[in-house]
Amino acid sequence: MGAKLLWLCLASALAAYYIYSPIPAGLGQPWKVMLLDTGFRAMGHLVKQLGLMHYMDVLMLITFSECVAPSSDENVTVTDTEFSGVAVRLYLPRKAPEGLRRAVVYVHGGGWCLGQAGMKGYDLLSRWTSHRLNAVVVSVNYRLAPKHHFPVQFDDVYAVTKFFLQRSVLSRYSVDPHHVGIAGDSAGGNLAAAVAQQLLEDSEVETKLKAQALIYPALQTLDLNLPSYQENKHSPILSRLLMVRFWSEYFTSDPSLRQAMASNAHVPVESSHLFQFVNWSHLLPEEMKKDHVYTGPVYSSPALAQKYPGFLDPRAAPLLASDARLHGLPLTYVLTCEHDVLRDDGVMYVQRLRAAGIPVVHHHAKDAFHGAMMFVSGLTELAVGHQLANGYMAWLNENL
Ligand SMILES: *[C@@H]1O[C@H](CO)[C@@H](O)[C@H](O)[C@H]1NC(C)=O
Ligand SMILES: *[C@@H]1O[C@H](CO)[C@@H](O)[C@H](O)[C@H]1NC(C)=O
Repeated sequence: MGAKLLWLCLASALAAYYIYSPIPAGLGQPWKVMLLDTGFRAMGHLVKQLGLMHYMDVLMLITFSECVAPSSDENVTVTDTEFSGVAVRLYLPRKAPEGLRRAVVYVHGGGWCLGQAGMKGYDLLSRWTSHRLNAVVVSVNYRLAPKHHFPVQFDDVYAVTKFFLQRSVLSRYSVDPHHVGIAGDSAGGNLAAAVAQQLLEDSEVETKLKAQALIYPALQTLDLNLPSYQENKHSPILSRLLMVRFWSEYFTSDPSLRQAMASNAHVPVESSHLFQFVNWSHLLPEEMKKDHVYTGPVYSSPALAQKYPGFLDPRAAPLLASDARLHGLPLTYVLTCEHDVLRDDGVMYVQRLRAAGIPVVHHHAKDAFHGAMMFVSGLTELAVGHQLANGYMAWLNENL
């Protein structure tokens, strides 16, 4: 009911505020994508005009209207519980295990500010994964910004993963310790990648991850003017400004960081050595550089980085990890979308992981935009959503 009401509001917002949003050529079902994107933008404008709510609150409301209660079906038992004091939604296959099962820790997206394991798209993806792979899925409901800032989101996902990886816990769920992976999309891909890195340095963890799957992940804070940011400034669902908003909100609600990030001048010269890890002039393949010219960084005063050191921390920006820290990472799947500000983050991580000797499967979806994998049901269903979800699950099925 809530969802219907919101869609009705959205439809009227659409009628009242028609906002032209250019849809990049090459996307499948372009009219539907434009309608969805226009709907989201119209909603944002309506709220701003009426001054009713904070833009983030509206996005939060849309998120909640998309949530479903935990409900088991004939194949999967679904419950909400807590691991190590952090809320998780647990998916257990109904079929009696023949021997031990595989397992996936799933981290949802939403710019560290939004999202829920119970959102329709995430719930379906976890259900499908659990059933098709006969696997346990632990979908993490980590705490969100603006109420909580970095490193709370990271710490929550880390605590859940570490708790789950204990032999005694794995055996309680009949999980094979040699077949546990972590996966996430967007901000969840960021958290999954960061957690996988940190686990390598934790001597208390005896179970190693078998695989990590990073779905259009956000991986770096340093350069918010990469070719993909420039090309997709106004691409559907995630504009450059919204991404800047999400990044800055992860660390603080202080608008000075957002403003500095928006002009891509937030890193002090003292941290200039970090730019080698996000230097697209040698980390991007030729065909992705197109006509872009690498100009190098613009530096800020050290004040912002002193106040909010999180944005230079590899736990927030896994691409900033040194080469030595990448060794030992598990088998990796990276999905990038052509029409996505975060495209080059994923592509550069693929390049760096391969250089560090990590086996990586890189799927670059030329006809997709950021977040497309979530569009798998109801009014917002898109063919590309199913293609991406199926590709991801097929990889997991073969490699986990
Ligand atoms: C349960 O699994 C069967 C066989 O794979 C499938 O046909 C059915 O649609 C599944 N049920 C649900 C609710 O997904
Ligand atoms: C980026 O890499 C290019 C070589 O491709 C180099 O000339 C440039 O100095 C590098 N810039 C930084 C900031 O690392």
